[in-house]
Amino acid sequence: MKKSIGTPSLIFPNPVLVVCTYDDNGRANAATLAWGGIASSGPAAVSIAVQPPRYTYDALMKRKAFTVNLAPAKYAAEADYFGLVSGRDTDKFAATGLTAVRAEFVDAPYIEEFPYNLECEVTHTLDLGVHTLFIGLIKDAKIDEAANEMWKGFDLITFDAASRDYRLPGESAGKAFEIGNKFKK
Ligand SMILES: Cc1cc2nc3c(=O)[nH]c(=O)nc-3n(C[C@H](O)[C@H](O)[C@H](O)COP(=O)(O)O)c2cc1C
Repeated sequence: MKKSIGTPSLIFPNPVLVVCTYDDNGRANAATLAWGGIASSGPAAVSIAVQPPRYTYDALMKRKAFTVNLAPAKYAAEADYFGLVSGRDTDKFAATGLTAVRAEFVDAPYIEEFPYNLECEVTHTLDLGVHTLFIGLIKDAKIDEAANEMWKGFDLITFDAASRDYRLPGESAGKAFEIGNKFKK
């Protein structure tokens, strides 16, 4: 048996995407977004859902560029802070002491201390109501030089929107593209 719970915008888990932009004055800003993810693999693209009142929204519209920075657990408080205050009246990089580095291929900064960064160019926008969906073409990805295996040791956090917790991914529940093979005839 199932029961209807209406139309919550809930899914699990959500990524913790720290989106960085430059404002009109060239000041670096960061905002934490959980509504987003990979949109396409060819060409590689991401989607992010941003509310028009966000300072980030103005920057995305004007600069047509952003970076996506995945947050490790040791910077969970910084990532949370980026989602609590607006860059309209606060310099979030100065407040946290994190380092904004000019991206190589797009007009946006990335966060040096975060181990994985995507440099994205805005190609499409779609007004959906409360949120506007931005599609960002991935122009380049940066990963910490020390990384010898993707994600290993990065301790990247996810967001549980139902309980409002940041979580670390748990144990493997099986190999993808493999365990389902047992149902093939
Ligand atoms: C965990 C978390 C997830 C969030 N996800 C989104 C989101 O997907 N879209 C959005 O517009 N705002 C989201 N926010 C809110 C913005 O991060 C917040 O309004 C922030 O202050 C915007 O900063 P800005 O005004 O400098 O752009 C989220 C905040 C948190 C803490």
